[in-house]
Amino acid sequence: MVKALRVHELGGPEVLKWEDVEMGEPKEGEIRVKNKAIGINFIDVYFRKGVYKAPTMPFTPGVEAVGEVVAVGPGPTGRKVGDIVAYAGGPMGSYAEEQILPASKVVPVPPSIDPVIAASVMAKGMTAQFLLHRCFKVEKGHTILVHAAAGGVGSLLCQWANALGATVIGTVSTKEKAAQAKDDGCHHVILYTEEDFVSHVKEITSGNGVDVVYDSVGKDTFQGSLECLKIRGYMVSFGQSSGTPDPVPLSALAPKSLFLTRPSLMQYTITRDELLEAAGEVFASVASGVLKVRVNHTYPLSEAAKAHADLEGRKTSGSVVLIP
Ligand SMILES: NC(=O)c1ccc[n+]([C@@H]2O[C@H](COP(=O)([O-])OP(=O)(O)OC[C@H]3O[C@@H](n4cnc5c(N)ncnc54)[C@H](OP(=O)(O)O)[C@@H]3O)[C@@H](O)[C@H]2O)c1
Repeated sequence: MVKALRVHELGGPEVLKWEDVEMGEPKEGEIRVKNKAIGINFIDVYFRKGVYKAPTMPFTPGVEAVGEVVAVGPGPTGRKVGDIVAYAGGPMGSYAEEQILPASKVVPVPPSIDPVIAASVMAKGMTAQFLLHRCFKVEKGHTILVHAAAGGVGSLLCQWANALGATVIGTVSTKEKAAQAKDDGCHHVILYTEEDFVSHVKEITSGNGVDVVYDSVGKDTFQGSLECLKIRGYMVSFGQSSGTPDPVPLSALAPKSLFLTRPSLMQYTITRDELLEAAGEVFASVASGVLKVRVNHTYPLSEAAKAHADLEGRKTSGSVVLIP
């Protein structure tokens, strides 16, 4: 038996229950991992509330963790007891002291990277990686808009885009978050809870608009984001922290010949090669100092409900981690 958080009914943070769960032995191609640090991601909130449907009910949430391999199943896994490994994206079930994972879904963590840092950056960093390098290729000379610029993904997006030579405009809700976003390489920060971000972006870009918007806020920002884009700009809608955006008629894209994508990390790390490449680039960027991981909030695993309440309540910035 190990301790884990379980969701038996969908709802608020209080539905996360601290329970004993049976842990079997790893089967063919699987490994058993004792978690050292567990990354919290906003997607965990969507599953807990039922915005996305969990694969089972009840379920253990969480799609990211770093831990030590404590048992290896039969067949080739490429892993041995004692290895420190990370995974992000799936399968679900990381809010637990231990979990069984397909060996094909984990990557080795370089010894130079602390497990807490690795669990803070794997999912969010790989997201920033595919958004900046593959969804739309950010280059020197581009001007980009990043919503929730002080958030887990937002902080990394701003740092990385700045390093790529882009002009970065970020939106945040508080002055404290604005200071962090500036520190993370935002050239312009807009308090979108107090100011109209659309007119600010137009002012900053002399009326031209931005090359790309990275919008993870969804309902509250989507329409304004389209207005911020330049002709033939790219709208990358990759989350909905404020709620699902209203349906978009194709005709909304026509006046500026806009591109619109709704990408997911899962579809950008399908093959083992894609996963290794994305994780490798993230860990290399941490090691080189391009990415400074902000582990701003850690909670004991048993207090995941408090962590969820803070994340949903916009009280957090940077990464949020659970420690078993
Ligand atoms: N598509 C993908 O593959 C993928 C992968 C990873 C993450 N994501 C998405 O990226 C986003 C960021 O994830 P994260 O884990 O790094 O979370 P996060 O950005 O640290 O937290 C969410 C932030 O969104 C902002 N926000 C604006 N309106 C909000 C509202 N009504 N309720 C709550 N927050 C609101 C808040 O920042 P302010 O206080 O500054 O407004 C809040 O801190 C999420 O939408 C997530 O679903 C998508």
